Amino acid sequence: MKIVIAGGSGQVGNVLARAFHRDGHKVFVLSRQPKAAPWPTVIWDGRSLGKWTEVVENTDVIINLAGRSVNCRYGPRNRREIIDSRINSTRVIGEALRCTEHPPRVWLQASTATIYEHRFDAPNDEATGILGGSEPNAPDTWQFSIEVAKAWEQATQTFLPLPKTRLVLMRSAIIMSADRGGAFDLLLRLVRLGLGGQNGNGRQYISWIHETDFVRAIYWLIDHDSLSGTVNLAAPHPLPNRDFMRILRQAWGIPLGLPSTNWMLEIGAFLLRTETELILKSRRVVPTRLSQTGFTFQFSEWIEAAPDLCARWRERT
Ligand SMILES: NC(=O)c1ccc[n+]([C@@H]2O[C@H](COP(=O)([O-])OP(=O)(O)OC[C@H]3O[C@@H](n4cnc5c(N)ncnc54)[C@H](OP(=O)(O)O)[C@@H]3O)[C@@H](O)[C@H]2O)c1
Repeated sequence: MKIVIAGGSGQVGNVLARAFHRDGHKVFVLSRQPKAAPWPTVIWDGRSLGKWTEVVENTDVIINLAGRSVNCRYGPRNRREIIDSRINSTRVIGEALRCTEHPPRVWLQASTATIYEHRFDAPNDEATGILGGSEPNAPDTWQFSIEVAKAWEQATQTFLPLPKTRLVLMRSAIIMSADRGGAFDLLLRLVRLGLGGQNGNGRQYISWIHETDFVRAIYWLIDHDSLSGTVNLAAPHPLPNRDFMRILRQAWGIPLGLPSTNWMLEIGAFLLRTETELILKSRRVVPTRLSQTGFTFQFSEWIEAAPDLCARWRERT
């Protein structure tokens, strides 16, 4: 296949581009600057049509991951960039598809599992899940992330119907890869420093997906014409933060980890110029549509995924 990945130079893009390249597909990454990689990079600005649209012609699959990293403080300027970079890149991709003679048969568009409500009582799937935004007392930063996710999905859906292209909105949980700089790397660093205890009250759910299953799910989405619209990409067994951290500590071989309270996390996040939402919001998301179409996970339980990721992390050192 010929596969174009917009914003494919980041954490998730690298996981996918590496797998597609390994499997013999032709990968092109759309990026705002030249990058050294085993696959070609095509330059775009993420907000206007240009010569880059030529690469979209005769492409089998386009995947859009572009957007300013959410790993920052949500001040006014960053908020604007987080929203604009997602809406603008999505808009130009939709416009490019409209003026392409032979458009891709599949458009896989990034969204996020963060769109669902902060809840503990029941898991969120695509049919019965509750979208967030009206939780009482939720921090303004959490509301902001939900607004971004909703606006991002709406911006994509304005391009429907696309006569020749199937659109999938990927509500991904945190993708756990052993690469440096990603979410797993950060959590493991806390564990290695002896700081891998529970965060806050530890009741909040963590939804996650192993990098191997993420890649397999992407292939599954490409191959299954019945899958369009919103699809949750998350392992079927999200678990409370306190269990998640305990299993990660065990997998690394450290029995104890200092717990952190909400206020400690707020100070840490301020110093690291990030937000506590990633750690404190309860994300309880399950992959009903994937499962209903017969997808099976290699890593459906964190207790299987954590040791595997630790081993991969060691290998990649
Ligand atoms: N990581 C996860 O676990 C996860 C989970 C759910 C959803 N997501 C979503 O999936 C997408 C990819 O995540 P990621 O972790 O790979 O993010 P990332 O590492 O920050 O990569 C995002 C890419 O977007 C591009 N980008 C940044 N600012 C941009 C702008 N102003 N205009 C156009 N492009 C811009 C960058 O490419 P260039 O600098 O090369 O142009 C960058 O490589 C994100 O939109 C994220 O919100 C991620």
